Amino acid sequence: MKPPATQRAITRLLLHLHPPKIDEQAIKWNRTFGLGGIAALLFVILFFTGLLLRFVYVPSVEGAYDSIVALNNNTLFGRLLRNLHYWSATLLIIVAFLHLVRVFYSQSIYYERRKNWLYGLLLLFLVVSSNFTGYLLPWDQLSFWAVTIMTNMLTYIPLIGDGVANLIRGGEDVNANTLLRFYHFHTGLLPLLMVFFMSVHFWLVRKVKGVTVNNPSQRKMVDTNPHLVSKEVFLALVLIIFLLLFAMFFNAPLQGKAEPSVSPNPSKAPWYFMGFQELLINIHPTFASFIIPALAIGFFIYIPFVKFDSVNTGTWFNSAKGKRATIVSALFSLVFTLTLILLNEYVFNFTGWLPEWPPFISLGLIMFLLYVVPAGAFLYLLKTKTGISRVELLMSAVTVLLTAYLVMMTVGSLFRGEGMQLFS
Ligand code: HEM
Repeated sequence: MKPPATQRAITRLLLHLHPPKIDEQAIKWNRTFGLGGIAALLFVILFFTGLLLRFVYVPSVEGAYDSIVALNNNTLFGRLLRNLHYWSATLLIIVAFLHLVRVFYSQSIYYERRKNWLYGLLLLFLVVSSNFTGYLLPWDQLSFWAVTIMTNMLTYIPLIGDGVANLIRGGEDVNANTLLRFYHFHTGLLPLLMVFFMSVHFWLVRKVKGVTVNNPSQRKMVDTNPHLVSKEVFLALVLIIFLLLFAMFFNAPLQGKAEPSVSPNPSKAPWYFMGFQELLINIHPTFASFIIPALAIGFFIYIPFVKFDSVNTGTWFNSAKGKRATIVSALFSLVFTLTLILLNEYVFNFTGWLPEWPPFISLGLIMFLLYVVPAGAFLYLLKTKTGISRVELLMSAVTVLLTAYLVMMTVGSLFRGEGMQLFS
């Protein structure tokens, strides 16, 4: 029996994105968990729900908030539409991050895949920027102050900080110009850039004959349709049903209209930037806003170019030893980061102990070394005691960094209250 017309149309579209035959190993669930495909589908959902939102949204300080309230209360399926857009955007950040984790730990970023790691990083930047610019658009207290905090952080970048922050905001604080700029970035330039770089990203995956597999020499090719297409259609349906149900029961947040003179206590950045806000609480602003992010970005760009010894392309954690080292590194970073946060909150008082020293040293360099020296010693010991390879050491270093960020993000989001005090 012939499948229904819509199913045939979807299949034909999906087939244009794939080669006619595909490696059997490449379509096993645990190879990619479909994360790249889910990210792409989320982008499509965001694109179409965003197009509809444009019909009612008013991009001005006077009209933005009221247009969202009217959308929620007076438009048929308006609230559902907004919720769908909001939760898809949130999920896209999580999925893009998990996809990064998957390609990194499954050794899928070396040799001919280096370039795609870099395009991936760019895509992640675009995903986060899209989310951040969209965050301001409801013009409520939550979004106004979150954007104020984040753009203020930029002012700590030496020499150019004020200029960059003023350029993004269109003034010295978040105002009508900021809203208009963010609106145009969010609904114009950023989606365009994403479509372009996603196309390059997909093309590069095809160019290297699909995603990594453990044993490319033992390739067994199967027809893309139905073997891959059926899985993709299934995953897409599950995702859409899940999102619809979620959007029916959980509302996107909306506080009172933005009041630039009344800052809520606590004022928090969007959850995915909370790691940086937590950093700012613990270390001098030049380190939190510039030195550490710049070092981390440089390191992530450099990752696939590290001179390595043995890479088992397509093998999760590279080897059993690599897997153990990754788990130990995550545990180390969890305990160590939490300990430093607690010590800094309740014990350390470097400005009091060293009143003559410039804050850049007492609150900055000392705190930085207090993290980097023990973490470096841990990695050194791990390498010498367990005999892991360079690539596995790199994996451990990335694990320490990622875990530290996740711990800071969680502490900042969930365990800080009034005055950003711990457990208040
Ligand atoms: C909007 C965001 C993104 C989309 C839509 C996307 C989409 C995809 C898709 C569909 C694939 C092939 C299937 C799969 O691996 O699941 C893929 C592979 C890949 N992606 Fe992404 N991606 C995104 C972000 C990223 C990020 C943040 C990184 C890392 C920094 C990244 C790096 C890679 C690499 C290296 C591959 C090749 C993996 C392999 O050959 O096994 N991508 N991406």
